Order: sequence, then structure tokens, then C-alpha cells
Amino acid sequence: MLKKLFQKALVQGPDPDQLNPIPPIKQIVFIKNFTNDSKISAGDYSYYDNEEGYDCFEKTVLYHYSFSKDSLIIGKFCAIASGVKFMMNGANHVISGLSTYPFPIMGSGWEKHIDANWPFKGDTVIGNDVWIGYRSVVMPGVKIGDGAIVSAMSVVTKDVAPYTIVGGNPAREIRSRFSPDIIKKLSIIQWWNWPIEKITEAIPALMSDSIEELEKISA
Ligand SMILES: CC(C)(COP(=O)(O)OP(=O)(O)OC[C@H]1O[C@@H](n2cnc3c(N)ncnc32)[C@H](O)[C@@H]1OP(=O)(O)O)[C@@H](O)C(=O)NCCC(=O)NCCS
Repeated sequence: MLKKLFQKALVQGPDPDQLNPIPPIKQIVFIKNFTNDSKISAGDYSYYDNEEGYDCFEKTVLYHYSFSKDSLIIGKFCAIASGVKFMMNGANHVISGLSTYPFPIMGSGWEKHIDANWPFKGDTVIGNDVWIGYRSVVMPGVKIGDGAIVSAMSVVTKDVAPYTIVGGNPAREIRSRFSPDIIKKLSIIQWWNWPIEKITEAIPALMSDSIEELEKISA
């Protein structure tokens, strides 16, 4: 019985509840098991590569104070390269005034000057199967669609459509990964929500460029 369970586990990939899926490579961790912040969530299998030996994912999430109201929401099967930073709403100062100095944040009586105009762009939302390249920065409130790719060293200032490759500073569209028809099919299939047994069976199709093969498994 135990042997069977063990064999089953072996063919269904890593346990999403373990800290690092490849034990000899400690710097690659499943994010959801690597954060204690209730305003950061990540789906199963989404990983972060922390080459600098960070001991928690929170260090990649900047200006995310305990009083901040925004969340970082990451979907399933995302690959987040080393050095990526998520800049949260606490990073921004009021820029419409004569001074940008953040007086209210300094407290000691100045906090009463905080007003509703403090810039707030909402939650940062990363879809499923998103790949964010080395040392990229995602600005506050950005939404990155399923299957998108952020090129290395990019600064993402605007939302990214599903299955689009963006790059540069500010990140501009490089190209769409697939035709609109395939993107529509992928957005309906949503393979990342399948049971892991089915995803495991679908890996050859997922790594191919054949939507027909994936549709056969999906049916
Ligand atoms: C996005 C990426 C996948 C594109 O790969 P590709 O399809 O082979 O792209 P190409 O090299 O053919 O470049 C396509 C265009 O994108 C541009 N481009 C590529 N990488 C870019 C980057 N990081 N920033 C800005 N533009 C970039 C190229 O200059 C080229 O522009 P052009 O069409 O005007 O000539 C790759 O460049 C990349 O950034 N990978 C991330 C690697 C990484 O960070 N890995 C970390 C470990 S997980």
C-alpha cells in the first residue's frame, strides 16, 4: 500500500506543500509555503528563485506595510526569477502637491495629514502560468494575465494581456505568444485548475505547441 502511494507520488510531480521542490537547490521555493503575510497569496506550484539566499518571499515585496490595504495575488504555476521585485502601493508619494515629501508617514503628529488622495492603484494580480524574468520590477496595481512573459530586467508599469510577452523599461509588448483563437481556447481550458493527475498526463501536450493535443486531454 505504502509502496503504491510512493509510486503514485513519484509520477505526479512534487508535493505543492513542500518548501522547495528540488531539495539540492534550496533557492527555488514554492511561494505559498514561504510567506506568512496574509496580504500575499500564491497558488500551487508557483515558485520563486531567490539566489541571494533570502529567507522569506516578503523581501521581494517592497513598500508593503502592515497598514497597507493592497494585496499581492499570484496564481498557479508561475515562475518568478531571481531578483524580481513587486513594488506595492506604499511606494508612491502624493505627486500633485508642491512637495512629494511623505510627511504623514513620519508620524509624531504628522500622520493627521494623510488624506484620501494618497495614490492607490489596487492589488497586484499575477495570473496563472506567468513567467517573470530576472530582476524585473512590477509596479503597484499591475495585473499580469495568464500565460504572459515578462522579459528579464523589465519594469512593468501597465497591465499585461494574457499570453503576451513584454519587455523593457517601461515594458512594452514584444509580441503575443499565440493567435487570438489559441489564447481563447487556453483561457477556456484553464489547465492549471485540473487535478494534478490530469496535468501530469498533459505535460507533453503542455510543452508542445499543439492546442489540439491539449484539447483531446481536456475533452
Ligand atoms: C522574453 C524572452 C523569453 C524572449 O525570448 P525570444 O523570443 O527568444 O526573444 P528574442 O531574443 O528573439 O527577442 C525578441 C525581441 O524582444 C526583445 N527583448 C528580448 N529580451 C528583452 C528584454 N529583457 N528587455 C527588452 N526587450 C527584450 C529583443 O530585443 C527583440 O526585439 P526586436 O524584435 O525589436 O528585435 C527572453 O528575452 C527573456 O527575457 N527571458 C527571460 C530569462 C530570465 O530572466 N530567466 C530567469 C530564470 S527563470
